[in-house]
Amino acid sequence: MPEERTEQPHIVTCTAPVNIAVIKYWGKRNEDLILPINSSLSVTLHQDQLKTTTTVATSRSFQEDRIWLNGKEEDITHPRLQSCLREIRRLARKRRNDGDSGVDSASLSHKVHICSVNNFPTAAGLASSAAGFACLVYTLARVFGVEGELSGIARQGSGSACRSMYGGFVQWIMGNKEDGKDSLAQQVEPETHWPELRILVLVASAERKPVGSTSGMQTSVKTSCLLKHRAESVVPGRMVEMTEAIRKKDFAAFAELTMKDSNQFHATCLDTYPPIFYLNHVSQQIISLVHRYNKHYGETRVAYTFDAGPNAVIFTLQQHVPEFVHVVQHFFPPETNGADFIKGLPVNCASLSEELKQGIGLEPMPKGINYIISTKGTERAQELSESLTSWTRPVCCRGSHSAAAFI
Ligand code: DP6
Repeated sequence: MPEERTEQPHIVTCTAPVNIAVIKYWGKRNEDLILPINSSLSVTLHQDQLKTTTTVATSRSFQEDRIWLNGKEEDITHPRLQSCLREIRRLARKRRNDGDSGVDSASLSHKVHICSVNNFPTAAGLASSAAGFACLVYTLARVFGVEGELSGIARQGSGSACRSMYGGFVQWIMGNKEDGKDSLAQQVEPETHWPELRILVLVASAERKPVGSTSGMQTSVKTSCLLKHRAESVVPGRMVEMTEAIRKKDFAAFAELTMKDSNQFHATCLDTYPPIFYLNHVSQQIISLVHRYNKHYGETRVAYTFDAGPNAVIFTLQQHVPEFVHVVQHFFPPETNGADFIKGLPVNCASLSEELKQGIGLEPMPKGINYIISTKGTERAQELSESLTSWTRPVCCRGSHSAAAFI
C-alpha cells in the first residue's frame, strides 16, 4: 500500500478563552505588526461559557494550507493568518536548528488544515477574534512542538488576542521597539486571586457590528485628538491604578476605572470623524441602570464595560449576582421568562423590593436584552485530551463541510 494511504494525519485540538478589556486598546502605531498606541488590561473569561475550539491537522498528503471557520471555508491567504502561520513555522524551524528535540520536524514540512468554531455569536462584539487567533496560535504551537512566549505571535493575528494567551488578569504592555518584540501580554494576577469576581454578558444584539475594530481604530487614530490625549496622558496612569485595584481586590476602584475607561473609549469613537456609534439605546439604558443601582445602595456594586458593539459586560461580586440579574430581568422583560434567558453559571432566585424598583425608576424596555451569560474568570488556553480529539473533528467541521473535507 502506498505510504500516503497508511499515514495518519497529526491532529491537535485546543480551546482558548475570550477576554474583556477593562483598560481598552484602541489605535495602532504599526498596522502590519499590530503595535498599539497604549497598553491595555483585561480579564480572561471562563471557557465553559465563551471559547473557541480549534483543530489543526497536518499530513504529507495535504496539498495546501486551508482553514474553516464555523463550518465555512475562509481565505487562508489573509495577511493576519499568514503572519501567524509564518511566525510559528519560523519559531519551530529556529528551535529545530537549535537542537530542540520537542519540535516535530516531520510536521514542519507538511501543510495544515485548520478548523475553528466558537460557542458564541461571531463578530457580535464578543471578542471572537481574540479567542480565535489565540486558539490558532496555541494549537499550531502544540502541533509543531513550540513552547514559551507566544503572545507576540497571537498579537499579529489580532491585537486583543495576545491577552487571551493568559488566564486571570492580563496586561498587554505596548512596548516601544520598532520591531514589536517588547509588545507582549503578561499575567498581572491569576484568576484564583479574586474568585468572588463575577461577569455577566448582557447580549443586546447578536448582529454583526457595523464598523469593525480594525477599521474603526484606523479612523480614530487619523482623526481623534481625544484618542491621542487618552493614549499619552490618561492610560499610563490608569494602568497603574487598575493593577493596584486588582492587587488589593478593591472592587469600587476597579469598577469605577472600568466604567470610566469604557466611557472614554466610546467618547473617542464619537470624537472620530465621521463618528462611530457602538452603543445603542439598550446600551445607554444599561448604563443608566447600573448607575441608578449603585446610587440606590450608596456604593459601587456593579460596573459595565462595552467593546466595539452594544453588548454590555457587567462586573460584580458573587453576592450581588442574583439581585442584579433580577433587576436586569425586571427592567428588560424578556420574551420568555424561562431558563433560556440566563445561560452559564446558575443564578439563585432573588426578590426585588418595591423600594429598589422605585429607586431605579426606569421605564422597562421589553426584549431589549436577548439573554444573559453568567460567567467568571478563567485559566489560559488548553489542549484537549487525546480522547476528545475524535469527537472534536466532526464538531469542528459541522455545517456544509464534512470531516472528510477537513481531514
Ligand atoms: C474595543 O483586537 O479586535 O475590543 O488588533 O485590529 O484585530 P485588531 O483589533 P481588536 O480590537 C479590540 C478593541 C476593543 C478593546 C480591547 O479589547 O482592548
